Amino acid sequence: MHKPFIYCLVLKRLAIKSKLKTSEDEAISICEQDEARGLSTSRDRKQSFSLSLRTPRLDDGADISALIRDCPPLDTNSAYCGLLLCTHFKETCVVAERAGKMIGWISAYRPPAEPDRIFVWQVAVHASARGTGLGKRMLDELMTRQAVKDVTTLITTITEANNASWALFGSFARRRGAGLQRRPIFQRDVHFAGEHDTEFLVSIRLLTPQLELSAKEAT
Ligand SMILES: CC(C)(COP(=O)(O)OP(=O)(O)OC[C@H]1O[C@@H](n2cnc3c(N)ncnc32)[C@H](O)[C@@H]1OP(=O)(O)O)[C@@H](O)C(=O)NCCC(=O)NCCS
Repeated sequence: MHKPFIYCLVLKRLAIKSKLKTSEDEAISICEQDEARGLSTSRDRKQSFSLSLRTPRLDDGADISALIRDCPPLDTNSAYCGLLLCTHFKETCVVAERAGKMIGWISAYRPPAEPDRIFVWQVAVHASARGTGLGKRMLDELMTRQAVKDVTTLITTITEANNASWALFGSFARRRGAGLQRRPIFQRDVHFAGEHDTEFLVSIRLLTPQLELSAKEAT
């Protein structure tokens, strides 16, 4: 056998070993975290690491504020604003939790003058969970709620530079075979006194009533 080939094999084995070591270390650290929280059975462990998507509760207010603070360029909100969302608008807001930690949030409501629409205000995914499809899953969860069953259009606003947000809503529209329209709505100089980038109103007309769509996806 050629020497370089043998070196290659040895290097490969070392790489696999170190990978195994890393996952072993991760597993140990996971067990330690579980024990520290008093979780010992495998059922407890499974529950502790599964993702949960739910409506917000009143006691989520502080975690929502902290997550939004960690997710620029989102505007930070007052604690009172968070509490209003967790009460008056809870049926159209989504909390994502894993291992007892809030990792995602959507605030949304049906504008009183346009009840056939759902306005998605803020979407926040903790940096550690980005790019894993969580933003998409939270939007899908929102669209399966009874509270949006007769909604025909999703609207949101996005600044020109927010590529991740354009990608998230573009993907949402594409997956539903829907078009995406945009026009400036809140303008930098006219409405924000030059202190905030122009927000574009994005409208996505939903082709299928939401509950029918989720039933179809489930089959
Ligand atoms: C925007 C945000 C919520 C996206 O969440 P996420 O969980 O990472 O998004 P997902 O993993 O569900 O990805 C959804 C789609 O967007 C794409 N995407 C996500 N981040 C992207 C980025 N930075 N650049 C380009 N595309 C991106 C994904 O590839 C995916 O596309 P696909 O369905 O065609 O494969 C997240 O980046 C975030 O919290 N940013 C800070 C706050 C913010 O700007 N919120 C949005 C304004 S309200």
